[in-house]
Amino acid sequence: MGGTDHMPTAIGTSSPIPGLGPPGVHGICFSCDSIKDMDIAEEVATRLAAPAPAPAPATAPATVEATATATSTATAPATTTAAATWYSVGILATDQELALRCAEFCRRHGLHALFHPLDLDVCGTDPLDDRLLRLLGRRADELDSPWLNIDLAMWVREGETLLESLVPMPLVDEAVDWAVDRVKHAQDVIGRPLTIENAPYPLVVGDQDILTLMTRIAERADCLMTIDVGHLYGLRVQRGLPPVLPSDDDIAWDRVVEAHMSGTFVRRFEGGVRLVDDKHDWPVGDEVWDLADQLLPRAPQLRSVMAEAEGMNADELTESVRRFARRADHWWGAS
Ligand SMILES: [Fe+2]
Repeated sequence: MGGTDHMPTAIGTSSPIPGLGPPGVHGICFSCDSIKDMDIAEEVATRLAAPAPAPAPATAPATVEATATATSTATAPATTTAAATWYSVGILATDQELALRCAEFCRRHGLHALFHPLDLDVCGTDPLDDRLLRLLGRRADELDSPWLNIDLAMWVREGETLLESLVPMPLVDEAVDWAVDRVKHAQDVIGRPLTIENAPYPLVVGDQDILTLMTRIAERADCLMTIDVGHLYGLRVQRGLPPVLPSDDDIAWDRVVEAHMSGTFVRRFEGGVRLVDDKHDWPVGDEVWDLADQLLPRAPQLRSVMAEAEGMNADELTESVRRFARRADHWWGAS
């Protein structure tokens, strides 16, 4: 893997963990819509390279209810180091021009790229297309992304991209075999590790715990893991479970290299049913910060915590990244 060192770590499985990225590099990642909003990314990266002003009282709503405008104040010392380490590149396998533009953007701003393909489907029913996988490998090479992140969901159905309506992986034992074979094959053809992410769950099929299933997939496929803290919070609240479960002690935390967070939005229905959506253009709520504080220090190989921010303007995104940076120190505690 160009530009990345292999850092095997025994975790009690038969094989070492795949490459874990640039040695010693960890920090905050930011995303925006790479296809439409690279001008915002440029503005934010430029602002983040400058010393941050002392933060003003910031709006930081708790999990935001449909009509709520909850606010709280947060103050912390000004930071004088660059707040962001990574930039998340969400593009299609065929878009070489944008991949090269994003790679140049990262080089110019001293950022590392993390590739989040929009058309890799390790849980769906369409056969994996080796031609597409080879293109993804080339884009990853151009970006020098140490791994490719993918939500465990159906991304494509009979050739149609489901970007706005991902179908999450059913929470059943059978999903493990299905995903393992596809993840293994994708990694073999792409030539870089995948990191599998817990998808949003607007609908839930099955009763297994998502992190437990992810661990089984990751250990058998020998891939990495991404914890989307907001997705996890939403799924567990919808099922009437506490945000942290005893089974979390048995997760393959050594395989977790990324975490994601964004705002959350709760919809309430008759009968006490709650549906929790993530909203990338809203600030992270207190419940999600709290869950991150409880879970992320368990991940000794954590390299990137991403402020997911598609839809934010440059002011909002800059402040969001700075807020992540102010909270981040103890997340790397185990590394
Ligand atoms: Fe995510």
